[in-house]
Amino acid sequence: MGPSAPGEKAHAVCLPAAFQGHIIPMLDLAKMLHARGFHVTFVNTEYNHARLVRARGAAAVAGVPGFRFDTIPDGLPPSDNDVTQDVLSLCKSLTETCVGPFRRLLAELNDTATPMGHPPVTCIVSDNVMDFSMEAARELGLPYVQLYTSSAISYVGVRHYRLLFDRGLAPIKDVKQLTNEYLDTPVEDVLGLRNMRFKDFPSFIRSPAPDDYMLHFVLGIAERAVGASAMIVNTFGDLEEEAVAAMEALGLPKVYTIGPLPLLAPSSSISMSLWKQQEECLPWLDDKEPGSVVYANFGSITVMTNEQLVEFAWGLAKSGRHFLWIIRPDLAKGDTAVLPSEFSAETAERGLVASWCPQQQVLNHPAVGAFLTHSGWNSTLESMCGGVPVISWPFFGDQQTNCRYQCNEWGVGMEIDSDVRRDAVADLITEVMEGESGKVMKKKAQEWKEKAVTATKSGGSSHRNFDALIRDVLAPSR
Ligand code: UDX
Repeated sequence: MGPSAPGEKAHAVCLPAAFQGHIIPMLDLAKMLHARGFHVTFVNTEYNHARLVRARGAAAVAGVPGFRFDTIPDGLPPSDNDVTQDVLSLCKSLTETCVGPFRRLLAELNDTATPMGHPPVTCIVSDNVMDFSMEAARELGLPYVQLYTSSAISYVGVRHYRLLFDRGLAPIKDVKQLTNEYLDTPVEDVLGLRNMRFKDFPSFIRSPAPDDYMLHFVLGIAERAVGASAMIVNTFGDLEEEAVAAMEALGLPKVYTIGPLPLLAPSSSISMSLWKQQEECLPWLDDKEPGSVVYANFGSITVMTNEQLVEFAWGLAKSGRHFLWIIRPDLAKGDTAVLPSEFSAETAERGLVASWCPQQQVLNHPAVGAFLTHSGWNSTLESMCGGVPVISWPFFGDQQTNCRYQCNEWGVGMEIDSDVRRDAVADLITEVMEGESGKVMKKKAQEWKEKAVTATKSGGSSHRNFDALIRDVLAPSR
């Protein structure tokens, strides 16, 4: 079936990738569409839907008028675990098994034989990772827009993998080849990117196996995106103009920079946190001096060794600062994170360790002076929106590229060596919290915050781009 009759209400099916860092920006976008009168069907995997119910109660996924939730299976064996699924297995399974269930869901949503209670589907807004959905949209002749939830620089970095192959830098033959010297090899003349080194490209390029699944997966979804009707990137013009221009030069359809999404999305009762947030973090911050607390959080996917965790712990302790540290139940390899008892005793007065928090509110709290982060893209944008400088320890994927730009181009951060040591953590915290470079970074972060606010205000670039996307691509049949 094609687009609905002129004048009929629009109905967007929003399909996030099944990861926390992808669900949050898609939800923001879906709320924005809903606020513009779209009927929205938001499609989570069954696994994540069950986790949302456990974390936030059934009301969290009950929907509101004109905004409903639906599910598809992710194809992995059933499980009632409460952890981030293995990225490789999940990407493989989503790609290989989901098009059928998604197609059936669309057919059910459009089934006129049963009373629908909603308009027929008029467009699909899919995460770039879920690109199996392109086929289903094409079959129905629907506008098909992808949301790229990471940075434009990381997209361009992935598209330049072939350049790294052509220049003989990849594939590496053996991980032993990845010496510091090799990782620091400058890679010049890269369209859309500046001052790159080998190690700043999204980390999948470091695989020694030429047929590595994730390497080809990320390259495949990036290249196939040229078939979408349009691409949305959660970013703003001033921040990534050059990389966005390169995305279009690399063959993508029109790229709409619509971000930072948290500043654009209307507030609503719907929230999609896969872990239960510990609300006591906010009152704990309330009686701290402005700019006095280090906030440490490595997002939803990072998994570190217990040794690394212990180095971070002693680094925070040695810094002598107040800190709020979020340790997800599955942050450390093995069973659970084990913090030394001396650390807990020594820092009891000035540290709060929690398992999950309302991060955006934390980063907007005046007490927070620095953010120890893995540089996931949402965390990168959220720290800018809060005007908070960062200490970056990138773990994988796009985080390497985000970190490079935070530290080298945007002037808001300092990097910790991948081989993390407590003294380096403590020294960097001191530098960012009270050193001269920390002051400069704080000022820069504040400037980016202002630019982000300007972009998202009425008349700002992201605001206008959202209007244009609706008018030119998503509005029902013109
Ligand atoms: C993943 C990838 O790792 C990341 O690199 C990519 O850019 C997006 O997908 P994740 O690792 O979870 O995301 O990091 P990030 O992008 O920072 O997203 C985490 C989200 O969870 C943020 O929106 C953050 O506000 C939220 N969060 C995190 C919380 O609400 N509470 C927490 O305690 C931690």
